[in-house]
Amino acid sequence: MSRPLFIVFEGIDGSGKSTQLKLLCERLAANGRKPHPTAEPTDSTTGKMLRAALSGSDPRTAAEMAALFTLDRIHHNKCENGIEKSLDAGFDVISDRYYYSSLAYQGSLTDYEWVRRMNCDCPEIKRPDLCIFLDMSPKAALARIGSRGEATEIYEEEETLTLFRATFMRVFHSLTDNIAIIDAEGTPEEVSDRVWDAVKTLL
Ligand code: TYD
Repeated sequence: MSRPLFIVFEGIDGSGKSTQLKLLCERLAANGRKPHPTAEPTDSTTGKMLRAALSGSDPRTAAEMAALFTLDRIHHNKCENGIEKSLDAGFDVISDRYYYSSLAYQGSLTDYEWVRRMNCDCPEIKRPDLCIFLDMSPKAALARIGSRGEATEIYEEEETLTLFRATFMRVFHSLTDNIAIIDAEGTPEEVSDRVWDAVKTLL
C-alpha cells in the first residue's frame, strides 16, 4: 500500500467535480484505502467571507479574493481534520478545488505572478500528488449548471468560463506539478474510469 495521497479536483463550474470526487472516494475505499473528501472554500470564518463575496452580497476586489482564498487554504492545510493532519493519520485527502483555481480565477483578474508566488511559495500550502482537471466546454458546463436549478454565482457565465478554462491550461503549462487533464464529457461512470486510470498509477 503506497503512502497517503493528496489529490485535487479542478475544473470550471459545472464540470462535475463533486460527482467525480464522490466516485473516486468510493473506488479508493473499495481498494482498502481511507479517503477523506474535502473542499475549498472551507467552512472557516474566511470561507464564509468568500461565500458572501461569491454570492455577490459582499463584493470584493480580485486581489482581496486572492488573499482570502490563500488565507483559507493555509487554514485548510493546518487546521484540525485539515490536509496535513489527515495525511499524517493515513487518509488519502481528496479536495474539490485548490490553488489551481486561485491561479486560474484570481490570476486572470489580478497580477498572475503575485497570486502564483503567494500560493506556490507559501511554506504552509502543500503541493498535491496529483491534480485532476475535468475538462469540459463552457457551453456543456453551463447546461449542467442550469439543469441543477440552483442560484448562480458571480463566475458562472460563458465568457468568464471560457477565459478561466484557457487560463487553467496556461497555468498547467507553467507549473511542474503532476496534472492529468481528463475529458469530462460522457456518463459519470465513463469519466470515473478515466479518473481511476490516472489515480491507479500512484497506488
Ligand atoms: P462552489 O460553489 O464551491 O463551486 P464549485 O462547486 O464549482 O466548486 O464555489 C467555488 C467558487 O469559487 C467557484 O466559482 C470557483 C471559485 N474559486 C476561486 O475563484 N478561487 C479559488 O481559489 C477557489 C478555491 C475557488
